[in-house]
Amino acid sequence: MRIPFGTITLTRTAKDLVMDCLDRGRVSGGTLVRRFEEKAASLIGVKETVAVSSGTDADTLALAVLHDFGAKRGDEVILPALSYVSTGHAVIHAGFTPVFVDIDPETLNIDVSRIEKAVTPKTRAIFAVHLMGKPADMDAIRDIGDRHGLAVIEDAAEAWGASYKGKNAGALGDMGAFSLYVAHIITTGDGGLVATDNEEYAEVLRSLRGHGRACACKTCVSTVSGGKCAKRFADPAVGDRRFHFQRIGYSSRMNDMEAALGLGTSELYDEIIAVRHRNLSACIQGFERFGEFFRTFREEAHERIGPHAFPFVIESGAPFTRDALLIHLTENGIDPRTLFTSIPTQCGGFEFLGHSLGDFPHSEHVGSNGLHIGVHQDITLDDVAYFIDVVDDFIRRY
Ligand SMILES: Cc1ncc(COP(=O)(O)O)c(C=O)c1O
Repeated sequence: MRIPFGTITLTRTAKDLVMDCLDRGRVSGGTLVRRFEEKAASLIGVKETVAVSSGTDADTLALAVLHDFGAKRGDEVILPALSYVSTGHAVIHAGFTPVFVDIDPETLNIDVSRIEKAVTPKTRAIFAVHLMGKPADMDAIRDIGDRHGLAVIEDAAEAWGASYKGKNAGALGDMGAFSLYVAHIITTGDGGLVATDNEEYAEVLRSLRGHGRACACKTCVSTVSGGKCAKRFADPAVGDRRFHFQRIGYSSRMNDMEAALGLGTSELYDEIIAVRHRNLSACIQGFERFGEFFRTFREEAHERIGPHAFPFVIESGAPFTRDALLIHLTENGIDPRTLFTSIPTQCGGFEFLGHSLGDFPHSEHVGSNGLHIGVHQDITLDDVAYFIDVVDDFIRRY
């Protein structure tokens, strides 16, 4: 593959820290997870982050926090119909009913003009996705959230390095959930984290990731050093706090070896973002000449797109199919991915909600006609030029 979808940059720091974990026999979550959480909080610009096992868990746990603040199981969460399927899974795993809203085809994000019609007395949150790193219209979303008393949670899985009106994605709502999977900008191999300015939410998140137990310290003295915890037996009504379970929890911890990889990648954060952003801009510019056949997004003055990947959607009426293009790209050493699906109408697991094809036309069009390719730090401008030529060759056949 000349242009693989993803890459991973493993720094000397990451390797040294992993070896140190192995040498010390400290492989579960401890001091490195906490260091990584602090580093991530400073990069995003929030008070706290809580590291978990995946981006899907970050989404799920962020939503599940709402049960501590008055939400009931079965209450509703509004989210875009187009996203990676796990955005929808998370709503269900957290015990809520997903209420899907179609996207705006210009931005690929939730169409904010449709959100208010989806609000009911059972709505508890708006779950905004910054798809392909392009910030959702957060002013409008916050405004609707404020007027209806709804939490605003961001699925910022793809939005490392994105900003909206000067503030980073993940710091724009009540909580922001990030993925740390290998294809993402900062990676721990597998992993995720939730960012928030609300210390109470962070404490509930720490409990949720460890089965809902009463312990929610930022680092656990027993795990880190086998030391004595002053809080553990302090409350006779609770008994052993470590095995007192207060809420429906999850098994979703990050371990120190994963955090080591994250600490390593985050050293190069600015450089990685700069190269990826350069590549993304070159793809957007290169596609200008194909405007008749493809739609992509553009960066507006008020925002910075998080350079996760380059999305492009075949326009209705184009004389070729997505599959033909996908095969052509793959045969020429480029590794594209489809641009997700309309979760309620193109993903079998959501059939029980009773939607039919046609209910979310813009999301479904992208689901059938969209592709995205990586813009990662191992792709050069020559590679981007090669990609544009390969697409050009393909179009000339028609
Ligand atoms: C928008 C979005 N949300 C959630 C996730 C889930 O992240 P993970 O694969 O780390 O569970 C992804 C994964 O890429 C994603 O793209």
